Amino acid sequence: MSKIKVCALFRPLNSKERDGYGDKICIQRVDSESFVIKDEKEEFEFGFDRVFYPGSPQADVYEFLALPILQGALNGLNGAIITYGQTGAGKTYSLEGPSIMAEDVEKKGLLPRVVDGLFEAIKLSDQAKDYTIKLSMVEIYMERVRDLFDLSKDNIKIKENKQLGIFLSGATEINVTTSAEALQILCSGIANRAVGETQMNMSSSRSHCIYMFTIQQEVKSDRRSGKLILVDLAGSEKVEKTAAEGKVLDEAKTINKSLSALGNVINALTSDSPGKANHIPYRDSKLTRLLQGVIGGNSQTALLCCCSPSPSNISESLSSLRFGARAKHIKASVHVTSSEDADTKKQGARSLNKDEQCERVLAKLRGHLTVEVVDLLEELFTLEGILFYPNSAGELESTYEDITSKTISSLQNALVEQSAKIEELRKQNMILEAHLSSTRNCRNINIEAQSGSSFLSWIPYITLFKYWQPWLFQATSKMASLR
Ligand SMILES: Nc1ncnc2c1ncn2[C@@H]1O[C@H](COP(=O)(O)OP(=O)(O)OP(=O)(O)O)[C@@H](O)[C@H]1O
Ligand SMILES: [Mg+2]
Repeated sequence: MSKIKVCALFRPLNSKERDGYGDKICIQRVDSESFVIKDEKEEFEFGFDRVFYPGSPQADVYEFLALPILQGALNGLNGAIITYGQTGAGKTYSLEGPSIMAEDVEKKGLLPRVVDGLFEAIKLSDQAKDYTIKLSMVEIYMERVRDLFDLSKDNIKIKENKQLGIFLSGATEINVTTSAEALQILCSGIANRAVGETQMNMSSSRSHCIYMFTIQQEVKSDRRSGKLILVDLAGSEKVEKTAAEGKVLDEAKTINKSLSALGNVINALTSDSPGKANHIPYRDSKLTRLLQGVIGGNSQTALLCCCSPSPSNISESLSSLRFGARAKHIKASVHVTSSEDADTKKQGARSLNKDEQCERVLAKLRGHLTVEVVDLLEELFTLEGILFYPNSAGELESTYEDITSKTISSLQNALVEQSAKIEELRKQNMILEAHLSSTRNCRNINIEAQSGSSFLSWIPYITLFKYWQPWLFQATSKMASLR
């Protein structure tokens, strides 16, 4: 079990904050992992895996937060980096830098560094030829998932299956072969993103943006696939502070709602209720559903809590830091999934007699189950997604589609197995026929030897008999019945 890596990042003061409070900041460094944050009355100490103070180089954030996850993804481990914080706190800047194509090496954000890092690592590896990288980019805007590489796909469904885990059904995936090509494509996706102006941020992200890299390595029959996801969340905002109205207000309400759903998921994952399986409300928003595999699932995850160091934003900063402190307690079970693993599992399952096994388990359960245990099992199955109560017609439809495709594939497998059996029976039949015919020939040779005549002279009669025998049999039977 590994924990989520959580870091805090304080951006430099902006001009508006300087106008109000001068150079005053509300944080005091203790060391590279902890600090004290003070308001007029109280002070609070926080500890994280790393704290990036105002002016920290972007390269430090990349090396500490992103590089280990990137290396994992190259080896088939899923990984995610999430930026969280109030509007204007520096989430997009941390990911993109001043712009994704910016020349200034020092200011480069995590995203272009990850792209360069991936291609650099592949170039240096012995198996460069075996890697492929695919790129997808979507945003969750007003609770709809939109494909930023193809705007006609504006309501992409989030689905789940055993092999892929949570996935975006039908989202565009672009094969990228160089760092420059990947950046160019990302740039076109970013241009399609929903951005607006609020009093807190001239260029505020009005959607949650998800960058998804699928890194595949194929060596002989073994195929490893690691996903690396970067998430630029839209910022939480106090609508009175951002002076949002009209469309911007509607956006803010939807953003706040999905962020509080994310908070509820984190709370559920970290709340201790001994002996009772906890329901995790992943299905309460598109954001939490999409992040289901990333938070508390099979993923190495890092959370960057972005904050303003200004006393004017202390309550928002405290709220972001508390969110991060809570997330630090989430545990994940991370493992590599490869095609070889899947094959071995399948073979193991096939060698067992399923009916007998089920009957044995059921018999045991009958002796032990109480109403309370059944309730707990129901809760556990709901948690695992084996059982669920749909919130909407859409969810019901997507589950129905999953079940249908599973049924079709199991029927196809059964058909393949039956065809193989028929082929085997056909071969056995041919062997038996050959055996029968050679036995008949031997018998005829014996008869001929006994009668002393030439065997060869009998061959035409034997052949004739073979073909006429059924007819003769029918004819004699008919004659017998006429009599
Ligand atoms: N680390 C930083 N160094 C210098 N300037 C920064 C930094 N972080 C943020 N800024 C400045 O703050 C502004 C707002 O940052 P950014 O757009 O990243 O906020 P955000 O958290 O993404 O907000 P929103 O939730 O509204 O999208 C940027 O335009 C940038 O100029
Ligand atoms: Mg942003």
